Amino acid sequence: MRKISVLVGSLRAASINRTYAKALGKLGADLFEFDYPSLDLPLYNEDLWPDPPESVFALKRSVEAADAVLFVTPEYNRSFTPATKNAIDWGSRPVGQPSWPGKPAAITGASGGAIGTAAAQAQLRSIVVGRGMVLMGQPELYYSFKPEGIDAEGNFTSDKTREIMRGFLEKFSAWIEKHG
Ligand code: FNR
Repeated sequence: MRKISVLVGSLRAASINRTYAKALGKLGADLFEFDYPSLDLPLYNEDLWPDPPESVFALKRSVEAADAVLFVTPEYNRSFTPATKNAIDWGSRPVGQPSWPGKPAAITGASGGAIGTAAAQAQLRSIVVGRGMVLMGQPELYYSFKPEGIDAEGNFTSDKTREIMRGFLEKFSAWIEKHG
């Protein structure tokens, strides 16, 4: 079964993006094996490379072992979060050993607002493509989070939402088949 490294760009315990990412993982459990590496990494600092933190290796291992990467981004001030950018920065180094090039990738994200991270995703796209990932441009998937939209067991409660999410995961599976 294909492996997806899911990068959730929020560090907080009650993250709606982590809840959303886990619900996607549950819905797509027959398609993919999902790994959720921590993005709780020190702020990128070149001086740390002589003795890098284990969390950096854990991230790079997860991405390199995966067939594809799924970014699940919150939106901060109309952009993606520092946690996501910091993870991309760590994964792009050391020079000559980046983790990203050639990886099929997709982006989604959740916010409480009506546009569901559209501004954050638009900015993240250019960074992801610039790192050599093979980004699925369509379908775009913006999740406007409401607490009642995902139940205590981590299932999407609406049939329509499940259908849309399932469609996204199936398209991503086809994308990986073609570009992986
Ligand atoms: C936000 N939030 C937010 N939401 C949005 O839709 N557009 C935005 O530009 C912003 N800006 C923003 C800045 C900062 C610094 C914070 C902390 C929050 C609200 C954000 O969507 C909300 O806090 C989510 O719950 C964050 O995702 P997690 O951490 O719950 O996954």
